[in-house]
Amino acid sequence: MNEKNYTKKDSNGQELPDSPFSDKGAYFISLEDQYGAHNYQPLPVVLERGEGVFLRDVNGKKYYDFLSAYSAVNQGHCHPKIVNALVNQAQKLTLTSRAFYNNKLGVFEKFATEFFGYEKLLPMNSGAEAVETGLKLCRKWAYQKKGIEENQAQIVVCANNFHGRTTTIVSFSVDPLAKSDFGPFTPGFIIIPYNEVDALEKVLRENKNIVGFLVEPIQGEAGVNVPTDGYLRKTYELCKEHNVLFIADEIQTGIGRTGKLLACEYEAVKPDILILGKALSGGVYPVSAVLSSREIMDVIRPGQHGSTFGGNPIAATVGIAALTVIREEKLAENALELGEIFRKEMQKLCDSSNVAQSVRGKGLMNALIINNEKHKDLAWDICLKLADNGLLAKPTHTNIIRFTPPLVMTKSQLMECIEIIKETILQFDN
Ligand SMILES: Cc1ncc(COP(=O)(O)O)c(C=O)c1O
Repeated sequence: MNEKNYTKKDSNGQELPDSPFSDKGAYFISLEDQYGAHNYQPLPVVLERGEGVFLRDVNGKKYYDFLSAYSAVNQGHCHPKIVNALVNQAQKLTLTSRAFYNNKLGVFEKFATEFFGYEKLLPMNSGAEAVETGLKLCRKWAYQKKGIEENQAQIVVCANNFHGRTTTIVSFSVDPLAKSDFGPFTPGFIIIPYNEVDALEKVLRENKNIVGFLVEPIQGEAGVNVPTDGYLRKTYELCKEHNVLFIADEIQTGIGRTGKLLACEYEAVKPDILILGKALSGGVYPVSAVLSSREIMDVIRPGQHGSTFGGNPIAATVGIAALTVIREEKLAENALELGEIFRKEMQKLCDSSNVAQSVRGKGLMNALIINNEKHKDLAWDICLKLADNGLLAKPTHTNIIRFTPPLVMTKSQLMECIEIIKETILQFDN
């Protein structure tokens, strides 16, 4: 069987329905259905090309990308500077492991620490690995510097967090889908409500074994939950008061997405441990990192932590190119400006629609809340219609549509997208 003589059958031999967008796409969907684990529920669109803010499917249909691979593609698809950096480096040296030095890692570490104002960087690959690294670093610091008794360290996290999929990270998830049947879980985490300063103050007062507070400056997967102004600043100050490390997971909010280089900048907070991923490579390669001070980072000694691919020459080269693009093209500034326009226009839509309930977000990290009282899957249906109309977005938590386009979008492209969204949503009004 190949793309041409394919008959639409699922893994049980049942006829599959027509893909709403492409017959050709149905073949590739069936391959994933048959041979892949069903750990995602993708929109039935099969993509084969990307350029800037646009994606194209296997039939050549063009879409605006309003997901950016969950904010990894802030610099736009296949940014030539980043792709060239990758290709050039791939032809010279791809991987040395950390058994030896290479001529790229140190250059990246210097570049990125200066870029974000830190002293040291520990490179990894995926976001979840970087979060794990941040947690291990915090625990090691607790035992070696803070004087916590062995195995007693506690890290405070927030309800509705999303920090990745490893066993330790899902140990402190409150999402049954992410957690059920994956136990036993890692102890040492205390879950408090998000956006409640008092809740943090209370646990810090009551528990002397707390060593870190892990927080997303805006909760992304939870549906773009923007905390009250002052929340990050106040929780940061509480952490300082109690000698607890403030650990910011800026994997989704960081690198220009919210209209600043880092979302913590809105409240002049400099995390003790900063966790980055996704757009650190512009989406062309898995690159993540943990940044911190010399005092904290130096608690990790040879043999205690690592990754074969972490900080490899391609990742290092791509990381520099990706950050350079953010700065040169003023992408944080663009996100700030376009975000204001987007929310204002979406608010107008909410005022006139009984389907679009409210809009929230910062910079180009936004969400539209859909009233799905009458029809539970309305947000999904809206996303299908949006795709039909040339714009790709994905619902989260049933009734929330996240809108996170690449930050290289122009104002006129944004206005066109706003029209697509408005027209699509209004088709669902009654
Ligand atoms: C805030 C946050 N942390 C961690 C992760 C996990 O990153 P990865 O999927 O690269 O492991 C994500 C991914 O969506 C995220 O949004």
